[in-house]
Amino acid sequence: MKRIALLTSGGDAPGMNAAVRSVVRVGYVKGVEVVGVYHGYQGLLTKDFHIMLPRDVSGILERGGTILKTSRDIAFKEEKNQWKAIENMKEEGIDGLIVIGGNGSQTGNLSLFKKGFPTIGIASTIDNDLWGTDYTIGFDTAVNTAINAIDKIRDTAESHNLTFIVEVMGRNAGFIAIDAGIAGGADIILVPEIKFSVEKIVDNIKRDMEKRKLHYIIVCAEGAIHARDLEKEIHKYVDIDTRVAVLGHIQRGGSPSRFDRMLASELGERAVNALLEGEKGKVVGIKHNRIVLIPVQDAVMNKKQLNTKLYKLAEELSV
Ligand code: F6P
Repeated sequence: MKRIALLTSGGDAPGMNAAVRSVVRVGYVKGVEVVGVYHGYQGLLTKDFHIMLPRDVSGILERGGTILKTSRDIAFKEEKNQWKAIENMKEEGIDGLIVIGGNGSQTGNLSLFKKGFPTIGIASTIDNDLWGTDYTIGFDTAVNTAINAIDKIRDTAESHNLTFIVEVMGRNAGFIAIDAGIAGGADIILVPEIKFSVEKIVDNIKRDMEKRKLHYIIVCAEGAIHARDLEKEIHKYVDIDTRVAVLGHIQRGGSPSRFDRMLASELGERAVNALLEGEKGKVVGIKHNRIVLIPVQDAVMNKKQLNTKLYKLAEELSV
């Protein structure tokens, strides 16, 4: 394998740049030419190809976002576009592809692999919802951003005796909510995976207020309920002073944490080596502190389960 393509796809995540840097530099050391594809899968169709050398990735390790740009490309779901992408890569002498991204992005990886093109994915999404890997690039930074925000919000909640509803990202998964909730000391955590009742939440608030809890923090994943909707629901049952904070895209940006930089550097290296060893149709991730190759089919078809023990712990800690 002499020439490989590299793209980032789906939602950007802090640490994607560190992974790009790792692939480009390890590729260079191993004598492989790395072609950066701009704008995700779209760039495979428009041939937005750029040869990348070690100095092209200087000064990006500490930067959030992705210098390769990214997109959520619906058009790539069409088979004819997938064949076109393969044709475009073959025309340029590209014989392998590395895809940095989450679930949707690795579904693109799977379709190219099924058509016979060698692909390797690198697990990256702030949501951490990719099966087969304990962590995805970007999750750690996103959670730390959310914790910092909750710490600040707590100052105001405490000073004014307020109930705050903090909405974090996670359309289909509660990984950010559960970690940020526990580490941020939330009183209630709501995730899409676990059913909840507003009446029970209100009962808890009332019970806790009797125990002289004068401020309250609820962390909800956007996929469980939107903070504004929850606020309206709560007010149907109880007249308390509430505020809402929707953290939104601040969780996607910013300089990656030490963990994400390390993870991205290691996964980037493993992805290049995997292609060179003839591996294909896999995603590189981390399991029990070891870098692993996960069949892409399994990664995208299975649902990663939330650790319910953590949910129980959250309840215990909010006594
Ligand atoms: O996939 C990461 C993520 O940040 C989700 O948590 C969130 O629901 C979604 O992307 C938001 O996507 P967009 O920026 O395209 O609205």
